[in-house]
Amino acid sequence: MEIRRVGVVGAGQMGSGIAHVLALSGYEVLVTDTSPEALAALPRTVARNMDRQVTKGTVSGADRDAALKRLRPTPSLSLLGQCDMVIEAATEREAVKIAIFESLVPHLAPRTILATNTSSIPITRLAARTDRPERFLGVHFMNPVPVMQLVELIRGLATSDETFAAAEELVKRLGKTAAVARDYPAFIVNRILLPMINEAAFALMEGVGDVVSIDTAMKLGTNQPMGPLELADFIGLDTCLSIMTVLHDGLGDSKYRPCPLLRTYVEAGWLGRKAKRGFYDYR
Ligand code: CAA
Repeated sequence: MEIRRVGVVGAGQMGSGIAHVLALSGYEVLVTDTSPEALAALPRTVARNMDRQVTKGTVSGADRDAALKRLRPTPSLSLLGQCDMVIEAATEREAVKIAIFESLVPHLAPRTILATNTSSIPITRLAARTDRPERFLGVHFMNPVPVMQLVELIRGLATSDETFAAAEELVKRLGKTAAVARDYPAFIVNRILLPMINEAAFALMEGVGDVVSIDTAMKLGTNQPMGPLELADFIGLDTCLSIMTVLHDGLGDSKYRPCPLLRTYVEAGWLGRKAKRGFYDYR
């Protein structure tokens, strides 16, 4: 099936990034969010991020202007009903995602594919809360979406071959590369990345190194663009904790126990960059 119009639920960091790359690749994009402020800020955020690409010379000014015209913020979830595909990119909380599916599904055309950008919640479990498990799958983008090349594609138990092929085609048209992951706790990237971040938090807690030493060691010692603690702040410490909890609960191995220091920071509201305080102080 051909996908022309895509709905995005959530105008936060991931939702706006997904809307950005869809619009640049020629899709008509409808974005909704329960927060009027987030919705109002969306065109500005996307324009600013596209401007970075224009400055770097990876996108032309004309392509940016055309893409921005294809982007439509809408306060109404019901308008997403006529999209060929809807990508849910709301907060990483299962109850929030399920409430969205319950409100959205009655408006969806029977052919519409429903995808979730969840970073760790089981796809089959989410699919079972919709009317279309065969037209449901995980399409997991990396942050920042306009910059990162990878998209993880995850089938639920009932996902049809046609649905999966349509998602593969979409990823290709976005100019990104898909990695296929099994519906298993935290999929591939977060299964491997988050234990490293959690271990960095343990190393900090145990005094193996300070924040700067740990990040410098990993940045310069293993050629990573960001050190693990800087990356944790970038992802959000609440998201890191929630993914570690999914790994610990889902795999039942003590090696996935969330670091107490990570938990303390989350309890303090030190959630990383978005809270202007995490392992680093951004104030
Ligand atoms: N759109 C949106 N944001 C953009 C952007 C664009 N077109 N181009 C750059 N950025 C952002 C960066 O995140 C950063 O944000 P701030 O403005 O808040 O500082 C800033 O712009 C820096 O931009 P630069 O042009 O200087 O970019 P850089 O060359 O320093 O690279 C980076 C920045 C690409 C983020 C690089 O540091 C990097 O690759 N870091 C690792 C990112 C990573 O590992 N992401 C995956 C996280 S895991 C995940 O996403 C899965 C999950 O479920 C948790």
